[in-house]
Amino acid sequence: SIERALRPKALNEYIGQHRVREQLEIFIAAARNRNEALDHVLLFGPPGLGKTTLAHIIAHEMGVQLRQTSGPVLERAGDLAALLTNLEKNDVLFIDEIHRLSPVVEEILYPALEDFQIDIMIGEGPAARSVKIDLQPFTLVGATTRAGMLTNPLRDRFGIVSRLEFYSAEDLTHIVTRSAHLLNAETTPDGATEIARRSRGTPRIANRLLRRVRDYAEVKANGRIDTDVAGAALAMLEVDPQGLDLMDRKLLEAIIHKFDGGPVGVDSLAAAIGEERDTIEDVIEPFLIQQGFLQRTPRGRIATQSTWRHLGLAPRGPTHGSG
Ligand code: ADE
Repeated sequence: SIERALRPKALNEYIGQHRVREQLEIFIAAARNRNEALDHVLLFGPPGLGKTTLAHIIAHEMGVQLRQTSGPVLERAGDLAALLTNLEKNDVLFIDEIHRLSPVVEEILYPALEDFQIDIMIGEGPAARSVKIDLQPFTLVGATTRAGMLTNPLRDRFGIVSRLEFYSAEDLTHIVTRSAHLLNAETTPDGATEIARRSRGTPRIANRLLRRVRDYAEVKANGRIDTDVAGAALAMLEVDPQGLDLMDRKLLEAIIHKFDGGPVGVDSLAAAIGEERDTIEDVIEPFLIQQGFLQRTPRGRIATQSTWRHLGLAPRGPTHGSG
């Protein structure tokens, strides 16, 4: 896939997330020197920031294979047991959406993580018995948008916990420039920056917008992505100058127009805009909170003064209605 083609393979090609990168560099080098599996790694943060990319990079840097699955796919204990017993020494097992593991599967995982052993039940009824199987040492890389949704015993078994942050416009500009090279797209430095500034701090979005802006540049201009072409293309895509998209604005407008600025509970919001609660919490809200357009309070979501200003409305406040 194109997404995969743009993905960096080595840690020294990975842009941004400087703290996470530095830590992983050290822990990987140490594990390699000892010829041991890297400790289990938990990656958490909003979607599109490079958790899957990092899992692949970890396997690459360790010189081992990566096996990939996800929490919801592992329905029964046997599904996980089959994967675990096929791992080779120091391999990486990547479980995306690890907060969605079922309790029976999680049970199997604990001794696997701690002692590289699994206990599985064979047979049923009075003849049933438990069998211990030794595994090769391996590294679990778990990814989740919400570390808070992991059970404590599972979270405690990760020796390395890395939180991914939204990228700065500067780091995203590097990523857009690098991707443009790989796609043979011509960008001016300002054109790359314009895309970066409007990508919600998220490389996956930056790379997607780059491809759409390139289409626009080829059809509506001379193919070169400068500030004007990027601006016109992004306006057409309804990405505003702050990088908010249709769903972002729909959510903020609902809080203001339907709930008087809040506080409003997330379920009421979900019903009002016809979006899944999980999507609101995992995908839409984190960036709006980081940008100061939304606050989560114990009584619900509220819009901020910046929200009113951004949507071109007179701010609500003590002076409201006094004229
Ligand atoms: N593509 C997506 N994420 C990236 C990153 N962090 N560095 C370089 N290229 C990327």
